[in-house]
Amino acid sequence: MTSDPANPDPHQAPAHEAAERRDWSAYFDRMEGKPPRATLLRALEKFGSVDRSDAPLAVDLGCGAGQDLVAILENGWRAWACDSNPDGLARLRARRACADAISDGRLTVVETDFQSVRIPPATLINASFSLPFCPPDHFPALWSQIDAALPPGGRFSGQLFGDRDDWALLDDRTHLTRAETLALFDEYILEHFEEEDRPSSHAGEHHKHWHIFHIVARKR
Ligand SMILES: C[S@@+](CC[C@H](N)C(=O)[O-])C[C@H]1O[C@@H](n2cnc3c(N)ncnc32)[C@H](O)[C@@H]1O
Repeated sequence: MTSDPANPDPHQAPAHEAAERRDWSAYFDRMEGKPPRATLLRALEKFGSVDRSDAPLAVDLGCGAGQDLVAILENGWRAWACDSNPDGLARLRARRACADAISDGRLTVVETDFQSVRIPPATLINASFSLPFCPPDHFPALWSQIDAALPPGGRFSGQLFGDRDDWALLDDRTHLTRAETLALFDEYILEHFEEEDRPSSHAGEHHKHWHIFHIVARKR
């Protein structure tokens, strides 16, 4: 599993039980106060410091209540963020860092789903634990947009869920084999690729088998 002690198990119980039901308000309650995702922090670190007077753009797909956006903005980036859940976006707008960035034009927030999103060109595309919730019929088009939006040298950070994950049985989720996942990154250098394939480990948690790919990749 992801073992960074500064960024504890991000899909911890009972947040994942809310995610299984797509009860996003309960999910956001349970994730409140959690740090940004380790994959995002790795990608930001790989880019190093940015010129704030000519800030590059990061896209956050399925941004939820904005925990990753705060880190993106604090690191000097501009951001374009989207999610289909209005409650998450309201929580995001209530964060001081996000409200300030919206008012000075550094952050654009769009309520849309993955099925109809139009992703702008960006130097970084972050999708933390969100792409598995794209309906599988729409995932190829969504991935094409992600790939087209990134220039050479741009990075993707985020998670894809594997075929051995228990949620692969749910027909509204996108789950890929390891080979299918790696094939998405043929034209990328994988800077971090971690496969998590384990039963749940939280005491009292309802059992779930996790199969997750944690990815940071740079486009060639
Ligand atoms: C597990 S949460 C992850 C949220 C946040 N990125 C994080 O790391 O905690 C999944 C997010 O995807 C969003 N989502 C689910 N289905 C979606 C869809 N079809 N289109 C856009 N966003 C969707 C949810 O509203 C939720 O905010």
